[in-house]
Amino acid sequence: MKIEFVAAVDAAEILAVPVHEDRVLADSGSKLDEQSGGALTRAMSKGRFVGKAGQTLMVAAVSGAKAESILLVGAGSADKIDDLAVEAFGGNAYAAVKLSGAEVLTIDASNLSPEQAARVGFAVRLAAYRFDKYRTTQKPDKIPSINTVRVVTSDLRAAEAALEPLTAVADGVIFARDLVSEPANVLYPAEFARRVKALESLGLEVEILGEAEMEKLGMRTLLGVGQGSRRESQLAIMKWNGGEAGAQPLAFVGKGVCFDTGGISIKPAEGMEDMKWDMGGAAAVTGTMIALAGRKAKVNAVGVLGLVENMPDGNAQRPGDVVVSMSGQTVEVINTDAEGRLVLADALWYTQERFKPKFMIDLATLTGAMIVALGLDYAGVFSNSDEVAEPILAASKKVGENFWRMPIPAIYEQHIDSKIADVKNTGNGRAGGSITAALFLQRFTNGVPWAHLDIAPTAWANKSPSPTVPEGGVGFAVRTLDRMVADTYEA
Ligand code: BES
Ligand code: MN
Ligand code: ZN
Repeated sequence: MKIEFVAAVDAAEILAVPVHEDRVLADSGSKLDEQSGGALTRAMSKGRFVGKAGQTLMVAAVSGAKAESILLVGAGSADKIDDLAVEAFGGNAYAAVKLSGAEVLTIDASNLSPEQAARVGFAVRLAAYRFDKYRTTQKPDKIPSINTVRVVTSDLRAAEAALEPLTAVADGVIFARDLVSEPANVLYPAEFARRVKALESLGLEVEILGEAEMEKLGMRTLLGVGQGSRRESQLAIMKWNGGEAGAQPLAFVGKGVCFDTGGISIKPAEGMEDMKWDMGGAAAVTGTMIALAGRKAKVNAVGVLGLVENMPDGNAQRPGDVVVSMSGQTVEVINTDAEGRLVLADALWYTQERFKPKFMIDLATLTGAMIVALGLDYAGVFSNSDEVAEPILAASKKVGENFWRMPIPAIYEQHIDSKIADVKNTGNGRAGGSITAALFLQRFTNGVPWAHLDIAPTAWANKSPSPTVPEGGVGFAVRTLDRMVADTYEA
């Protein structure tokens, strides 16, 4: 998708114009309405279109207009034009005409600031995302026709400058969506690591550890998960040094289970294909690092990914096995399907020991119980530190990603105490399954300020949850983390 800024509407196929509730045209729209002898007002008066967000109305052959058709786009209440309203305007304008056959969409943002005009372009790019690389045939009328969006703004330079950092964020989100959507025969740990290594072109420093190196470090809980797979487990480490030399980094740690069969505690067949996106946490960390590097964020940050495949096999770990984690704590593996926490236990320990970070935030599609607790539209935040958790929640509201803070009460610690080892990897049946998982992780944080984001509900969307998020891999949490860093650590 090409995003361009223009100072005025020249000849256009479709011109999208914002309309606020109740049927209030912005300046340029009302001029158009006057020139046409009230054609837009008349069109609106005939139906239910009042300018609510999500509503659109196409008006053809408006006399005096330079465009062949005018698309009226509901922009919601005129006194609440925040970032999300601007994004919805852009995303909805695109969605209304993406299959129209037109190749160029012009969007009137002349009543908005240049920053908001840039945000319109950003929203279109996110809205236009599709994962269609494996489709060799498609019905022609199902293929989007729009390839260029021209955004009308009074200050081209300012809009272009404002688009630059947003482009880095969109790059991160889109990269994460691609990773999440890739099937597991294509995206296995070494391939994921290769794609991360290629990000050195953005100025990230990348290191990849294989099984022999992790063995030396004693990362047995991570390696135990991968030992039933033909694919070698990997630890990917990304560093972004945009802050002061020697300043403590912010650390992001991702669960990268490229496929989760459950292992010997095998999952049922139905829905198992979803477990290709069990690396959504690692994808979000990767996308966040891309955003930070792409916009040259003034912070030091590290991203650590535990990349494994959880398979049943003659060499797979068994329920009841006891493994020694890098921290030295012994873990009784009650259920091999509770593998994400085993991967993260070693990845978190490694991260705090090596980098002494200001905080660690881990991201994981960790528990089905998170979906039971919150439904499909909220991810959970578990944290031992308000200083870490609150900026995440504040940023998430600004970017339209839903999070809900969850408790990690000490009273449930007993549920993960093992009879023969220091800790076991499941809790008390299904009770509080997401919480006992978080408590397990906490034992591997060594007291470092930490938050755990259980994104099992939101990493994948079977249907589009918002105008800038199409169905499929969401790239969930990239925008929240990027915004949290910008607002809290760069401001
Ligand atoms: N990757 C799953 C969690 C998951 C399930 C994510 C459904 C997204 C959708 C995780 O590894 C898992 O299998 N968790 C088990 C834990 C249980 C065995 C304690 C679960 O949630 O059932
Ligand atoms: Mn599992
Ligand atoms: Zn899993």
